Amino acid sequence: MKLPIVRPVFDKDDLDLIQKPLETGWVVQGPYVKEFEEKIAGYVGARYAVAVNSCTSGQFIMSRIVDLKPGDEVIVPSFTWISTVNSIEFLGATAVFCDIGLRSFNIDVNQIRGKITPRTKAIYPVHLFGLPAPMPEILRIAKEHNLQVVEDCACALGARIEGAHCGSFGLAGILSFHPRKSITTGEGGMIVTNDDRTAAMAVSLRDHGAVKSDFSRHNERGSFLLSDYAHLGYNVRMTDIQGALGVAQFKKIGWILQKKQDLAKMYNERLAEIPWLAPPEAPPGYTHGYQTYCTLFKPEEALKAVSGKDQNAIERLHEERNEYMAHLEGVGIATRQGTHAVHVQRLYREKYKIHAMAYPVSYAADRLSLALPFFPTITPDEIDWLFEQLKKMRPKRASAGFFLTGRDHS
Ligand SMILES: Cc1ncc(COP(=O)(O)O)c(C=O)c1O
Repeated sequence: MKLPIVRPVFDKDDLDLIQKPLETGWVVQGPYVKEFEEKIAGYVGARYAVAVNSCTSGQFIMSRIVDLKPGDEVIVPSFTWISTVNSIEFLGATAVFCDIGLRSFNIDVNQIRGKITPRTKAIYPVHLFGLPAPMPEILRIAKEHNLQVVEDCACALGARIEGAHCGSFGLAGILSFHPRKSITTGEGGMIVTNDDRTAAMAVSLRDHGAVKSDFSRHNERGSFLLSDYAHLGYNVRMTDIQGALGVAQFKKIGWILQKKQDLAKMYNERLAEIPWLAPPEAPPGYTHGYQTYCTLFKPEEALKAVSGKDQNAIERLHEERNEYMAHLEGVGIATRQGTHAVHVQRLYREKYKIHAMAYPVSYAADRLSLALPFFPTITPDEIDWLFEQLKKMRPKRASAGFFLTGRDHS
């Protein structure tokens, strides 16, 4: 038996619908992309949704719309996918890293004020793994200092605060439809916003800076004339084949997200028997979207290492976690580190010359997070097998390796 980290949910609906653009011949951004946009806008509760070919492309577009320039600073969590930071760096602006909370894996709101300078232009909160970042406090700080807020919603489908969907709080949010996400279009992303200008600029920038989209042009008289081009744009359009897949995937959104809630509840209960893996947490009023079920390895020791700024202890725990993950890989169970600490990636490590322990919590999360296989079509047998394997592994003692109980050492 093999248990992958994720298995995208594809069914006959998906297979049928992705053939439609091939039948009509309209395979570039067209009617299915438009329909998918309308569905996502409705779901998120935003006035506009603008599809692009990845969340990363949407982040690049949003950093252009925020008008980042050399000298500008953006506050961003140091534990996130690298594209959140790259979109800042690409425009010559500076990422100002902010550490995270060890249990939430999200930006530590108490540290944000101390990072603000006259050059700060924006805050880019990330709803990591599907847990909303503390938006009420972030919005309060942003308002006080007149900062833009762009939400990284890559993982945030189904993530809400008091019922309000993530992506509807700041100037815009950007979703991802990569296959690790709850619904997928292969690659794909979507900018959601309530702001007229942001939506209009995003529509133009994704399409070479055109004033009028191909789709509108072809559906109007005078289609023989090309658009005027007003902005320095990109070509990051979503294809209509992806749009059709998005529409088909969207039909399952309720079922997929509910199934993930049910699974998370079950995993949380079963993890009570495995005290060295801490389950994800959500504060009251916060709905975790559970794009990823990310645990923390040996939470008490991790916390101690972080509070003591003890890098050696983090490294020892890290080795232990990796042995553990390697063993699971050996038996056929895929796990992953949650995501990475951007400040220790070579690009930023060398450019910004920041020590790993400058953001100790992010560093510990990089080294000690552990995402389990988690997807709506996981079977009861697969779940039993996963937890049996986890239960067989017992950490020997503080900061040492683990040993296996029982006979299965495969
Ligand atoms: C937090 C976060 N931001 C951005 C991205 C980038 O998304 P995409 O792969 O659609 O470009 C990811 C992808 O996993 C992510 O996890």
